[in-house]
Amino acid sequence: MLKANWWKNAVVYQIYPKSFLDTNNDGIGDLQGIISKLDYLKELGVDVLWLSPIYASPQADNGYDISDYEQIDPLYGSMADFEQLLEAAHNRDIKLMMDVVVNHTSDEHHWFIESRKSKDNQYRDYYIWKEGIADEPPTNWGSVFSGSAWEYDEATEQYYLHLFDKKQPDLNWENPLVRDEVYKMMRFWLDKGVDGFRLDVINFISKNTSYPNGALAAGQKYADGSAHFMNGPRIHEFLHEMNKEVFSKYDMMTVGEMPGTSPEDAAVYTNPDNDELQMIFTFEHMNLDCENGEKWQLKPLNLVDLKSNFEKWQTALFNKGWNSLYWNNHDQPRIVSRFGNDQQFREKSAKMLATCLHMMQGTPYIYQGEEIGMTNVQFERLEDYRDVELLNMYNEKKEQGWSHERIMEAIYTKGRDNARTPFQWNDKRYAGFSDTLPWIPVNPRYSVINAQAALEDANSIYYYYQKLIRLRKQLDVITTGSFQLLMKEHEDVFAYKRISETDTLVILCNFSEKLINLRNESFINSLEKAEILITNEEDREIHTLKPYEATVYKF
Ligand code: NOJ
Repeated sequence: MLKANWWKNAVVYQIYPKSFLDTNNDGIGDLQGIISKLDYLKELGVDVLWLSPIYASPQADNGYDISDYEQIDPLYGSMADFEQLLEAAHNRDIKLMMDVVVNHTSDEHHWFIESRKSKDNQYRDYYIWKEGIADEPPTNWGSVFSGSAWEYDEATEQYYLHLFDKKQPDLNWENPLVRDEVYKMMRFWLDKGVDGFRLDVINFISKNTSYPNGALAAGQKYADGSAHFMNGPRIHEFLHEMNKEVFSKYDMMTVGEMPGTSPEDAAVYTNPDNDELQMIFTFEHMNLDCENGEKWQLKPLNLVDLKSNFEKWQTALFNKGWNSLYWNNHDQPRIVSRFGNDQQFREKSAKMLATCLHMMQGTPYIYQGEEIGMTNVQFERLEDYRDVELLNMYNEKKEQGWSHERIMEAIYTKGRDNARTPFQWNDKRYAGFSDTLPWIPVNPRYSVINAQAALEDANSIYYYYQKLIRLRKQLDVITTGSFQLLMKEHEDVFAYKRISETDTLVILCNFSEKLINLRNESFINSLEKAEILITNEEDREIHTLKPYEATVYKF
């Protein structure tokens, strides 16, 4: 049973509905598909489901472009299906968290359809409209999805801001009417009984209203304008207001997606005394395998950087705020392919990565397929990809002179479609996801990597996750203990302690294929008397870490 502050104790599972399970054979996942797999999720042991957006949407960005916040997209089912899902989840003691996208809407939302009609339309100020400067956009900002962040609109001869795709115009949070509409919509879902919100790029909602240019890097057409919209001037005020108007009235969970946020910022956003959010998603650990935060400029991960990054977050928020813990989501490549080894050591390294993350302090998030070790894909043909970010990027990099091979390498390593291929349920046609051709091709490895195989193997990654989740429920130190990094400078081992008044855990994770000698480590003697809580190594030997071994000791 979950207690007060239940979200500190909970494990969340993210569903990307489009790719989860298709029951009406249109090639697209649906709500009935989720309902039919609730027992699978219950068995895994998760407490909360986070659904990526299921609202009415033209699907330019797979639902992160909402045209009606209070309707279910017919692709996924009906409101009756949604209510059935909510009830079926609650009957199993599983909570449901919605994905709320309020930095922007779809350009097909009726507010925007009105807004673009004329300068004096009553919805004009729901969005951000500006004059161009001598035939150029109002600022030099680039969109996250390539090109300018401004789109010229002939009807009124002004530009509107879209930090993402041009079909995702940014809402004007300076307008109190917009804020009221958003709070009303949030209450609509909470009154239906949903248990929380994941808030999409919520630290982008307050812009610097003088709209300065960003610093332009050499050879670039568009600038990074993020200094003028990330964690902007009124962000704390807006979140505080949202909390007062909405969150404070419900027993609910909140997590804000916040690119470009430091642990010091996070300690403010998530400090319970500030009445803003309970936790945020950081991006820092996801930006370590690229140059200067530029996603497509690949660089190998340096484990020492990853360790010191987690150390920073674990210590900065201890007794101040709260961490979320994640390796995967619908925007990130698969972790076993990224920081593990998805060939010879696929199962072993997937379990190691899970151990490393799940023994830390915070609320863990599991992304669909992570629990069976799903891997990245490498489609040969660009036509097999669907993601708007990736396709826009392809064209932009081509113009900048990148070779096809270099761009494909970046897509294979970082592309978001790695996470979005259909869930692999079994080794039948289309991996049991659908009876018809899915909206995006299935990962060809499904004949080996699938849920049925995992459920039939007592040693599978699935049961390993189940055990990690159970440990979290049994041992308070996992939720409450402090964090201490061990073997700081070691290039292959991620080792740390968790310490509470009653228990100490030592977590040892080998991120490499090498055999690691532990004989000279200061903690080695204490391990001899310790109990082993969980390990992925059958041939464990106390003085050596085997390839991709993870072992957790308790004393
Ligand atoms: C973050 C979401 O996670 C991502 O999928 C989406 O494309 C952007 N925000 C825009 O909503």
